[in-house]
This record gives sequence, structure tokens and C-alpha cells, in this order.
Amino acid sequence: MQISHNPLHLFIAIFLIFIVLENSANAETDGSKLFAINCAACHGDNGDGGIGIPLALPDFLTSVTDDYLFKTIRHGRPGRIMPAFQHLSDEQTHAIVKHIRSWVPKEVKIISQGATGNPEKGRDIFARNCARCHGPLGKGGAGTGINFTRLHHLPIVAPGLNNSGYLAAASDEIIRTTLLKGRRGTPMLPAAKMGLTSEDVDDVVSYIRSFEKELQSSADTATGPVKSTLFATSTDSFDETAEKIRRAISEKRLRIIRQHYLDDGLVAQGEENKKQLVIHFGNIQQINTLLTIDPRMGLFLPNRLTILEQDDGKVMVTAVNPLRFGTLFNNANLEHTSRELHKIYSAILKEVSE
Ligand code: HEC
Ligand code: HEC
Repeated sequence: MQISHNPLHLFIAIFLIFIVLENSANAETDGSKLFAINCAACHGDNGDGGIGIPLALPDFLTSVTDDYLFKTIRHGRPGRIMPAFQHLSDEQTHAIVKHIRSWVPKEVKIISQGATGNPEKGRDIFARNCARCHGPLGKGGAGTGINFTRLHHLPIVAPGLNNSGYLAAASDEIIRTTLLKGRRGTPMLPAAKMGLTSEDVDDVVSYIRSFEKELQSSADTATGPVKSTLFATSTDSFDETAEKIRRAISEKRLRIIRQHYLDDGLVAQGEENKKQLVIHFGNIQQINTLLTIDPRMGLFLPNRLTILEQDDGKVMVTAVNPLRFGTLFNNANLEHTSRELHKIYSAILKEVSE
């Protein structure tokens, strides 16, 4: 057999291999493999928790239905790290549910009955008993459940209840059962241990359900997608631009942590392109805040700006848009600091674009 040297043939062959690989990944229907690929990184190999809360807890699995698990995988928890797995087929999603269910196989029967409590009373009970962990508006605790000194188990972050993904998955009965049972092995106590009567529980369930209306109205006013990079074109030379950027950084009382050429380490020493410079900078406290909220922010920290001279001699400064961090990691807790960072980046870029 003769091997073709036509680059087009090679390209087509590689393309076909990719299609086959892609399809074989898509065709995976083994629940335990699908869990390992899609979930284990956050929830642990055996569902014992990590960035994601534990899933193998008996009190959890005996409080929820398979339909709840299915919908949670489908909808995710917007803004709460837990992604929406919309690319998985129904068959694959059912396979994952079956795998999770195998940890605590007890069939869950939840009697269907809507909450009939008083949401106004529920609001007060929530403020007194739940807000300190689940947040004053029920948006969930801050952090990811992972920190640098303790990688596993506690602390478990209190999930967001005022969340469209949670409310789409959880029926009133599931919320009520969760409150009555609590979750042994986590900070979530049963209602009785919090001093709540079954009437109080009904009131809180009705209050949690009432979040749905508010979420709907904020979804109606949501803004469009945010650009993933910021950039400015400088009217100065490469060196002057770099100098102005450094000055602007120190004027903002930020530290320059490191500077290197973009292709540093990729080409032989001394052969780097000297017209492509990356400046790492930041405020240590702000960096720590972001890393505590979400350790994955380490990918983007310290903050960095890249200065590039193009072939036509024009100088450009670019940065990843901090406003994207929240959506990138599906973590709404990053939004406040990201907005502050965005202001700083914009001010620095403005220094060179004038
Ligand atoms: C000491 C902190 C703490 C307090 C107080 C607390 N919770 Fe929780 N709650 C948690 C944690 C942590 C979890 C997650 C447990 C797990 O890993 O399954 C949780 C889970 C839940 C869940 C299940 C959410 C889900 O995604 O499955 C509901 C519902 C809930 N809490 C409601 C309440 C309500 C209502 C109150 C007040 C009456 C309350 N909690 C008080 C920490 C707390
Ligand atoms: C990037 C991390 C991440 C990945 C990947 C992930 N999860 Fe989650 N998951 C979370 C976090 C974090 C929460 C808690 C949400 C909150 O804090 O509001 C969660 C919550 C859940 C819950 C709700 C648990 C409860 O107590 O009600 C279920 C069920 C769940 N995930 C299943 C899965 C499954 C199944 C997969 C794979 C298909 C998966 N998750 C992948 C991070 C993740």
C-alpha cells in the first residue's frame, strides 16, 4: 500500500480520527465511566465531595428522587460552579443517575403535596436560622469547599437555594424532607435540632418556593454576553507603551510581580520576540480573595497584561476580561471582585489609548 504524501489527505485522516474519537466519547453509556469523566473532579470518585458537595450521603440520597438528580444534572446551578450538562443525552444522564443511586439503593418514595405554608413567616424563620450559612438572600455560601490546607470533606459550602437550577429540580416535598432529615455528616441539621416545628418547616418551604418569581423577573432583565478580551491600541512606541503601563500599575498601588516575553521557554534563550511582553501584577489581598472564592482563578492570577507590536508597527495591549471570570467558572461569587478588577484594567488601558 502506498502512503499518500498529499497534506490534504493527511488533514482529512486526522479530521476523521477526531470525528471517531468525539463520537466514541459521545456514545459512552456506562454510568460509572460517565461519572468519572464528568463529575468526579468536583464530587470525588465515590461521591464523597470536594469542590462539589458530597453526593453519596445516605440522608441526601434518601431525600431526593431520581428525577431530582436528572434535572440537577440537566440544569446545573447557574452561578454556583455546578455546570449544566446539556450535551449529555437522556440515556447518558439516566446512566449517571443510576450510578449515583447504586451508592444508596433505597427507593425514595416522596408523597406529592405542595407547600401550603406562609412565605412571610418563612422569611423571618429563614433570616434567623438559615441565612448565616445559605446567605441572606438564599444565594448560597461563598467559596468552593476546597481550600489550600484541607482538600477534602469539610468545610462543605451551603448550596444556593435561591437558584433557578435548584428550584427547577426540587419539588416542595424534597425541600421539606431535606429540612426534616437534615444531612448527617454535614453542617446541615434537621429542623427539630434547629428548634423548628413542622409548621415552621412548611413556612420556610413556601418562602424558598417564592424565590422563583424573583428569579424570573431578574432573568427578564439579564444583559447580553460580555466580550472575552479587553484591548487597546497605543499611539506610542512599544517601549513607551510598556513604560506607561508599568507606571499606571504602580499609580494604582499594585505590585508588578513578574515580566517575561510571551514566548519565554518556548524558544531558545535569547531568541524570544522582544516585542511581545507579558506583565504580571496585582494586589496580594485581592489575589487571595479571588483564590479563596475559587482556587481555579489561579489560572488567571496574578493579573496580566500583554503588550504586542504587530507587523505593521502598531502596539496593542490585551488582557482577559475579568467580567468573564464569573461566567467562565459559573461562580457568581467572583462577580464583585471581577467588577473591581475590570475597573482597574480599563483605567490602565485608558492610559495608553489616549
Ligand atoms: C450551619 C450551616 C447551615 C445552616 C444553619 C442551614 N444549612 Fe442548609 N445546608 C447546609 C449545608 C452545608 C448543606 C449541604 C449539605 C450536603 O452536603 O448535602 C445544606 C443543604 C441544604 C438544603 C439542600 C440543598 C440542595 O442543594 O440539596 C436545603 C434545602 C437547606 N440546606 C435548607 C436550609 C434551611 C431552610 C435552613 C434554615 C432552616 C438551613 N438550611 C440551615 C448548611 C446549613
Ligand atoms: C466544576 C465542579 C462540578 C462539576 C464538574 C459537577 N458538579 Fe455537581 N455540584 C457542584 C457544586 C459546587 C454543587 C453545589 C452547588 C451550590 O453550592 O449551590 C453541586 C451540586 C450538585 C448536586 C446537588 C446536590 C444536593 O445536595 O442537592 C448534584 C445532584 C450534583 N451536583 C451532581 C453532579 C453530577 C452528576 C455531575 C456530573 C454529571 C456534577 N454534579 C458535576 C460542582 C460540580
